[in-house]
Amino acid sequence: MQTHEIRERFIKHFTNAGHTEVPSASLILDDPNLLFVNAGMVPFKPYFLGQQNPPFATATSIQKCVRTLDIEEVGITTRHNTFFQMAGNFSFGDYFKEGAIKHAWALLINSVADGGFGLDPDRLWVTVYTDDDEAAEIWEKKVGVPAERIQRLGMADNYWSMGVPGPCGPCSEIYYDRGPEHGKEGGPIVDDTRYIEIWNLVFMENERGEGIGKDNFEIVGPLPKKNIDTGMGVERVACILQDVENVYETDLLRPVIDEAERLTGATYGDNHTDNVRFRVIADHCRTGLMLMLDGVTPGNEGRGYILRRLLRRIIRSARLLGATGTTMERLMDTVRQTMTPSYPEIADNWERIRSVAVGEEKAFLKTLESGSQLFENAAAQAKSEGKSVVDGATAFSLHDTHGFPFDLTVEMANEAGMTVDEAGFHELMAEQKARAKADNNAKKMGHADQTIYRPFVDNHPTAFTGYTHIEDESAVLGIIKEGQLVDRVAAGDQAQIIVDRTPFYAEAGGQMADRGTFRGESGAADVTDVQKVGKKVWVHFATVTGGELAVGQKLTASVDDAWRHQARQAHSGTHLIHAALRDVLGPTAVQAGSMNRPGYLRFDFQYGDQLTAEQLSRIEDIANAAVDSDYKVNTIETSLEEARAMGAMALFGENYGDEVRVVEIGGPFSMELCGGIHVEHSSQIGPIAVLGESSVGSGVRRIEAYTGMDSFRFLSGGKNVVADLAANLKTPSEELPERIDALTAKLKAAEKQIQQMRNQQLLAGVGDLVAKAETIGGIKVVAVQLPEGVSAGDVRTMATDAKARFGSDAAVVFFTASDDGKVPFVAAVTDAAVDKGLKAGELVKTFGEKVGGRGGGKPAMAQGSGSDPAGIAAGLEAVKAMVEANG
Ligand code: SER
Repeated sequence: MQTHEIRERFIKHFTNAGHTEVPSASLILDDPNLLFVNAGMVPFKPYFLGQQNPPFATATSIQKCVRTLDIEEVGITTRHNTFFQMAGNFSFGDYFKEGAIKHAWALLINSVADGGFGLDPDRLWVTVYTDDDEAAEIWEKKVGVPAERIQRLGMADNYWSMGVPGPCGPCSEIYYDRGPEHGKEGGPIVDDTRYIEIWNLVFMENERGEGIGKDNFEIVGPLPKKNIDTGMGVERVACILQDVENVYETDLLRPVIDEAERLTGATYGDNHTDNVRFRVIADHCRTGLMLMLDGVTPGNEGRGYILRRLLRRIIRSARLLGATGTTMERLMDTVRQTMTPSYPEIADNWERIRSVAVGEEKAFLKTLESGSQLFENAAAQAKSEGKSVVDGATAFSLHDTHGFPFDLTVEMANEAGMTVDEAGFHELMAEQKARAKADNNAKKMGHADQTIYRPFVDNHPTAFTGYTHIEDESAVLGIIKEGQLVDRVAAGDQAQIIVDRTPFYAEAGGQMADRGTFRGESGAADVTDVQKVGKKVWVHFATVTGGELAVGQKLTASVDDAWRHQARQAHSGTHLIHAALRDVLGPTAVQAGSMNRPGYLRFDFQYGDQLTAEQLSRIEDIANAAVDSDYKVNTIETSLEEARAMGAMALFGENYGDEVRVVEIGGPFSMELCGGIHVEHSSQIGPIAVLGESSVGSGVRRIEAYTGMDSFRFLSGGKNVVADLAANLKTPSEELPERIDALTAKLKAAEKQIQQMRNQQLLAGVGDLVAKAETIGGIKVVAVQLPEGVSAGDVRTMATDAKARFGSDAAVVFFTASDDGKVPFVAAVTDAAVDKGLKAGELVKTFGEKVGGRGGGKPAMAQGSGSDPAGIAAGLEAVKAMVEANG
């Protein structure tokens, strides 16, 4: 049974039983604890915890999941996959243990004709939590599983939590016996390779507190309701139903291995090392494609780094298997074909995904070669010194200059039987980080001890009134100074202030935070930044400017009027630029990030090529025409599904069922999900002046622009420059380009003429020098320093000329000069002198030693350059002495 069919049967089984089908959430959800969604229940977390009311009592989904903790294990064992699909059914206070167990059992054992998977019930085993008699009894009495096939396991195996605070509960797992050829008898507690886990039923009834790992945490108390969360591994079931050894052999991954065989010439199954590489390729290609589908782009941090690491491991594995050319496009195309039936959205995004993947390959191949060389030299050096450790500096340089992920260096070292000085590497990285002082706001809050905000997040979410107000009456709820909660702060203090309601926009969605003031009964403060914590609490970074502020006090919170006006212009301007950009470049130019502050915006997007001046000017034109159209700006609060149906461009982090805000400018012209603050009519944005575009990493480009008065000043500044030029050059401004072209051409011609005259002058002087030649040991010698400023080229021209003037005489010409700290020198030896044993190469070598330089060439002509003019006199003497010694 094909994987797509397994998915369909799962969903049908549960929708027939009244469950609402919920589409898979993006792999990227806005949860600070998770890099990627890693279980089917993640999008439903707020329902389990009772933070939100679920819009359904029961649901079913097939969730895309990525787990990247054990990337190194991929392919070495066949059980680890970084991407997998978790099929689940969920109950929010509806059915509990008995319902979950019966639903799962029915789907597994129902015949294929009846819509089930048709598994042999005699091959199914189950585990329950140590003291979960209730579940054990249901399995035995209500379902009929023999008691000897029901086993009990402890907390680490059969008590499920997310590993961090959140919902949790005892679970019951269903295993399939693959038969005696796969391992020992005795059920899953004896051998979990022969008996593979296919389904986990979690009886979600408690809330987990802080703690470590799977079995060492506090249980805070019961959840408001008893819930069900189950997860069936779609790929595991596919292995069984397709009767294959492991996931890599299933219909979704095997074609990628086949393609890799064609591309590399190697054969899967030949040996373990190659097998691992094939599996790495198959696994990573699929995960990479699915991450790019959800908008991740390769980068050096966080999710982008994981993606980069995956893509680079694919490229390297393919090389090691023997690929010589590029492989990414064909490999990814194979994944596209296997995955599109379940994820039709791949088709719309394919061009973008392809271009990002191919771009990354192109960039990496360039550095792979030079980096590998560097690595091999360092490894050989270390080995020759009897060491088996590659030093931290090499690993750092590979990372910094060649873009090698650290893990790649470790892998290469391991393959060479070596290790890497990890501490040394991290020390160098830390130094570099400290230098770069990356103080972006996310980090500012991300590294702070978040527990201090917890009481506010739980009990005092901030009321945000900034969409309609720029001033509000607030009460101080909390003050944090130097990381501690304090009661009051006084003039000069810097503090974080939390109030009950605020008109201040906190930095989000690329829009910078508002600036303004707090004015209280007994003191005032300047607000310089505002950040949101837990999506609920607005933290104002403030400097007290006079008097004091205390918890409990009332104050007037005022956003700086001009700031807000210009911030709105910039944010709405960003939306117009985004819309114009897609108009000109097409829908593959997907947003990769944006930032706007009063008067200025920048917008990053995925695009393989540099934009032409014509494209840039069209984008500017379209955006300004939208300003001129005076479109009404509407904001609509609706569900994510409704917003998508309207055609709004959604970024990432939204969740099924979330209430979202759509900002619409000119109807279909621009429609985006956005929580930012906007103008009311597009004409309020004022002019938008595009500054230019540039590259910010492989496949990502940036466009920058001014808005409002900043834009006007920029344009008007340009106009003033033109006016000044026109006045100075006494030319009408429209004729300036031709006039400047003519002036440049004239200047070039004049420079050429000057050079020619200079050469004539210098060459005229050569005659005098030749006439004054001394004779040393029967050889005519001119060894002199030419006037200050004669360049290396001049020295050479003059030496050639001088030598020619000696004709068939035995003569040596040695010219040098001092030119801006450099000492160029040339030796020219006539054939007759060469016959006498003199060599220009040796003369320049001797001279070079005196002036801190080196040189070389043929016996008749040689040249070099030094850096110490003080040695010139001694150098010339040495040259003469050499001629004399020869004579
Ligand atoms: N949350 C459980 C798991 O991830 C079951 O869905 O295994």
